[in-house]
Amino acid sequence: MGIKKVMVIGAGQMGSGIAQVCAQSGYEVLLNDMNEEALNKGLKNIEKLLTRAVDKERITSEDKENTLSRLTGSTDLSDASDCDLVIEAVVENMDVKTDVFRKLDEITPAHAILASNTSSLPITEIAAATNRPEQVIGMHFMNPVPVMKLVEIIRGLQTSDQTYESIKEMTNQLSKTPVEVNDYPGFVSNRILMPMINEAIYTVYEGVATPEDVDTVMKLGMNHPMGPLTLADFIGLDTCLYIMEVLYEGFGDSKYRPCPLLRKYVKAGWLGKKSGRGFYVYE
Ligand code: CAA
Ligand code: NAD
Repeated sequence: MGIKKVMVIGAGQMGSGIAQVCAQSGYEVLLNDMNEEALNKGLKNIEKLLTRAVDKERITSEDKENTLSRLTGSTDLSDASDCDLVIEAVVENMDVKTDVFRKLDEITPAHAILASNTSSLPITEIAAATNRPEQVIGMHFMNPVPVMKLVEIIRGLQTSDQTYESIKEMTNQLSKTPVEVNDYPGFVSNRILMPMINEAIYTVYEGVATPEDVDTVMKLGMNHPMGPLTLADFIGLDTCLYIMEVLYEGFGDSKYRPCPLLRKYVKAGWLGKKSGRGFYVYE
């Protein structure tokens, strides 16, 4: 059965981006968040980005209206009862994700695929919370979703070939490039990216250089589009810490220990751009 109707859970920076690209590619989309304020913020952001795309003459105003007509907000998980695919993009926490997947397993039709946008958590463990592990898969979009071309597709231990093929095909429909990876902590993307960000934080923690100078070195010296500390603020420092904890615990290797400065900032509520303060201050 083809994928027509999709629920995206979590209307934060990732969920809203995923909902936008799905609706722009012709899917009927429900964007769900348990927090109504977060949902409205996510929907508003999509409208803002579409308006900007019209202003830049990348889409027509008719495209914009058609996209918005395919997009509906939801605060009730049971709205997923007629969805063919659910993409979960809630906080990077195993207990919260397994709770969502357990509920989805009861709510969604038997044919539905349940995907997670997790950055690092084991798909196999998320799948074990359901009675359909062969229909559970990782669909890891990159931030900002409307711009970044990659989707890392993670096969859990029991993910079926059919589920993998459906998600690979949908990723192509979204005009993104799928890369298949196996289920190990941090997959490929964050196993490589996050230790670099963590090391950049250690560099500041140890007084080697200021955040500005660390970022300048990596931008001008390595041609990265954003320095690692700007990128950490952009991703969210809470998400960075959760990912480092998954790597540290998953591999049991001290090279992945999260920097104490990262822990301190998260404890202070300095979560980066989304909270107004991280390594930098945002208006
Ligand atoms: N949402 C949607 N579109 C955005 C955006 C956002 N948050 N930010 C920028 N854009 C768009 C802009 O609209 C612009 O498009 P147009 O020119 O067509 O209008 C385009 O991106 C370029 O933006 P700017 O010119 O303003 O800025 P830029 O050239 O510096 O590019 C960037 C911005 C694309 C974000 C670039 O800085 C970049 O590639 N940064 C690195 C991003 C990255 O590494 N992402 C991966 C993060 S890790 C991850 O996602 C995995 C994980 O699990 C943590
Ligand atoms: P975010 O904090 O911006 O948004 C999370 C949203 O989920 C919030 O709006 C919150 O209200 C909602 N939520 C939490 N629990 C919920 C529940 N039980 N039901 C419905 N909604 C719920 O987070 P984000 O940055 O969008 O990250 C979301 C996921 O995507 C995480 O797993 C993260 O690791 C992953 N991810 C993040 C990035 C990134 O750069 N930030 C990139 C790729 C993947």
